[in-house]
Amino acid sequence: MIPLCRPSIGQDEFKKIQEVLISGWLTHGPFNEEFEESFAKYIGVGYAQTINSCASALFIALKALNITGEVIIPSFTFVATAHAVVLAGAKPVFADVDYNSGNITAQMIEPLITDKTQAVIPVHFSGQSCKMDEIVELCEKHKLVLIEDSAEAIGATYKNRKTGSFGIGCFSFFPTKNMTTGEGGMITTNDAELAHKIKVLISHGIDKTTNTKFPWQREAVTAGYNLRMSGILAGLGMIQLQKLDQMNAKRREHAKYLSDNLSGDIETPKETNGCHHVYQMYTIKVKPEIRNAMVEELKKSGIGVSVHFSPAVHQQAYYKNYNHENLANTQKLSESIITLPMFPDLTKDDLDYIIKQTNDIFKKLNN
Ligand SMILES: Cc1ncc(COP(=O)(O)O)c(C=O)c1O
Repeated sequence: MIPLCRPSIGQDEFKKIQEVLISGWLTHGPFNEEFEESFAKYIGVGYAQTINSCASALFIALKALNITGEVIIPSFTFVATAHAVVLAGAKPVFADVDYNSGNITAQMIEPLITDKTQAVIPVHFSGQSCKMDEIVELCEKHKLVLIEDSAEAIGATYKNRKTGSFGIGCFSFFPTKNMTTGEGGMITTNDAELAHKIKVLISHGIDKTTNTKFPWQREAVTAGYNLRMSGILAGLGMIQLQKLDQMNAKRREHAKYLSDNLSGDIETPKETNGCHHVYQMYTIKVKPEIRNAMVEELKKSGIGVSVHFSPAVHQQAYYKNYNHENLANTQKLSESIITLPMFPDLTKDDLDYIIKQTNDIFKKLNN
């Protein structure tokens, strides 16, 4: 069985976790600070805050900025993007995406802007950045907060800038992602005040800087949450970050091999101009009439395929009363997409087997 994904964990990760355990400091502390500093530097921003998930990162970014109006998001995403908006007390407004990239564009966002719109959350689908210059310009023009859902694109760039550096960046370290801490996430920003607010909000609302005379007197300045990442996971994240570019290079190599060898009639992922794709997922598109049968047959042949994302968020029970119009590409994508296995340690034998089975099954079904 070739799984959909498998994290690359080795001796360095084991050693680091052991070091954290031996140190006795298991919660947020020096290992998180080291990870946060390195991650901020890697993304090219002033501040990074470890957190327990990307879902929490999205939620807390909206909460910290008091966003309770309309927030434009793609419907073609994992449901956590929409949940964060609802749970923060705001209203998601669903935009369509570009059929080729699966990404939201400025042209799709603009008609949805009203006087109630406060923020936009572009999702960088499957490891490829949205066209951020146009989105940044639109947000500046309409004075909208820009929060990037970069869960699936750690290390991806647009015009040589990392995703998560254009707005407030929210990242996921779930095991299927470009790097992992099991569960976990990060928020990035250049805004010192916002970074401080987030730090306080995710740690019981306690501001450690308020009482400089008696720093041991810890006082809540707001009602906060506990969404911190443990030091054990921060240690793991630190090692994964050191390997990230290498792991992403492997993903790109595998993606090229798959694209070069899959049958010409199967739609393979394309890199948008200006983008450096990091293939958190490798997705193909086939006719909706054969998609489900193809998923079933690939699974039967021992290939851990999946579908991202079907149903789209606006088609899910909880979101039935939100806007459903003008989402044709989203609908089409959710009916035609298939996610093939993608992880750095895939072997040539794995890739050849995936190619052979995918081509054969496609040929059989596509008559
Ligand atoms: C686009 C997107 N947003 C948010 C999330 C949520 O991430 P996490 O599992 O870290 O909360 C995911 C993860 O699956 C995702 O793909």
